[in-house]
Amino acid sequence: MKGDTELIERILRLKKQRNAVILAHNYQLGEVQDIADFVGDSLELSQNAAKTDAEVFVFCGVHFMAETASILCPEKIVLLPDMHAGCPMADMVTTETLKKRKGELPDTTVVCYINSSAEVKAESDICCTSANAVKVIESLDREQILFLPDQYLGHYVSTKTDRRMTLWPGFCPTHMRIQPEHITQLRQEYPQAKVVVHPECRPEVIALADEVLGTGGMCRYATREGISQMIVGTEVGIIHRLRKENPGKEFIPASEQAICPRMKLITLDKVLWSLEEMTPEVKVPEQIRLKAKVAVDNMLVV
Ligand code: 13P
Ligand code: SF4
Repeated sequence: MKGDTELIERILRLKKQRNAVILAHNYQLGEVQDIADFVGDSLELSQNAAKTDAEVFVFCGVHFMAETASILCPEKIVLLPDMHAGCPMADMVTTETLKKRKGELPDTTVVCYINSSAEVKAESDICCTSANAVKVIESLDREQILFLPDQYLGHYVSTKTDRRMTLWPGFCPTHMRIQPEHITQLRQEYPQAKVVVHPECRPEVIALADEVLGTGGMCRYATREGISQMIVGTEVGIIHRLRKENPGKEFIPASEQAICPRMKLITLDKVLWSLEEMTPEVKVPEQIRLKAKVAVDNMLVV
């Protein structure tokens, strides 16, 4: 415990010296969330950080999130305390495979989920997040849409709109661990609880939910009056924030196995090391950044 206290003090001291902010995604380890200046979903973090006068962002999340910060704030130094913290779903599409598919589907609007590399964003027309995907798709009037990389988010959106969508066969291995049986069993145990799931879950899980929300939406939903018990169908790290912000309410993970191993690579030791060494830095090359920013900006005006 003493070790942790000392470690935290060193991080906070160095953070001040470096004029840095610490950004933590909702899936981060509890101790990392607790030292962060902002805890949020994949887009909120970069947007909040952009409003500060910090020169350095220590991004406690996965690689595509740090890239999003670099796309939106090129003048900042963006540190990712462990370069191995990538998103396996984002890695399911590359520029090569995307260019090939675009060749097969001429005249198609490419919509990419924010869980994608900067290079893939640069090859896409518009971005979306779990929070605004339906709105983004509905804003398009072109006939044919290629949605990538998450087939399950894409499928969920397609049930909410009448747009024709071709879905990339990507998926999140962590959300795949949540099975419909988990929900049915927990509903029996907690008949009063609301079931809230992330749109990356399989359709059979989504069909059993009361609400389908991104992580930012889940955190807001949990604060509502009248919500006292919630079955949470997403990565288990979010339970820390939900409990901290809503004392007296009960949060039950849909599956204890829904752990994203890459998110858990970021630890307090690595945050300190990253601030000491000012590395590893995520910097999107300007040529790619400018093209990727068009896709992100197109989303932000929807
Ligand atoms: P959110 O944008 O809802 O935070 O989701 C990010 C993510 O990686 C979900 O697995
Ligand atoms: Fe990627 Fe899934 Fe981890 Fe989110 S939970 S970062 S989608 S692997």
